[in-house]
Amino acid sequence: MPKIAVYPGSFDPFTVGHLDIAERTSELFDELVIAVVHNPNKTPMFSLVDRVELVEQTLAEAGLSGIRVVALESGLLVDLCTDVGADVIVKGARSATDVDFEFPMAQINRELTGIETAILISAPELSHISSSLVRQLAQNGGDVRKYVAKPVQKLIEKKFKN
Ligand code: PNS
Repeated sequence: MPKIAVYPGSFDPFTVGHLDIAERTSELFDELVIAVVHNPNKTPMFSLVDRVELVEQTLAEAGLSGIRVVALESGLLVDLCTDVGADVIVKGARSATDVDFEFPMAQINRELTGIETAILISAPELSHISSSLVRQLAQNGGDVRKYVAKPVQKLIEKKFKN
């Protein structure tokens, strides 16, 4: 049986840090599904449709094929995991604070369906990169080129620059 991983997140936007986690996860498991999740508590910079496209375009630009990208507009992550037959949820952690944040979610998800969560520790050279900092740069005319792939950069330019 192939081992299937789901890597979920808001990905608003998908950064080079996310790309690194996706690439490393795809080397560990037979199949990878990236789930772009709508968070009703957040107002995103990019729509769910745009975020899915940006993940797909970033993967294509990086030469990563065979990774499925799906949108989770509502509902529980564990239900999506059941639907796609996932064995594991993968999260990236940039710090102990991130692990603390993931801890209760991993426990609840395991209580709900038994699914395990695996946490990959970010590459040190990428551990300062976050979607929220990219959003701040984007909204204030900062240079995002080091932090996101070209497709994301282009959409940021289109949205925020004249
Ligand atoms: O990138 P984020 O915003 O930190 O990702 C958080 C996310 C989307 C993975 C989390 O909020 C989530 O799993 N949402 C789906 C709804 C759900 O299953 N909630 C219960 C989690 S215990």
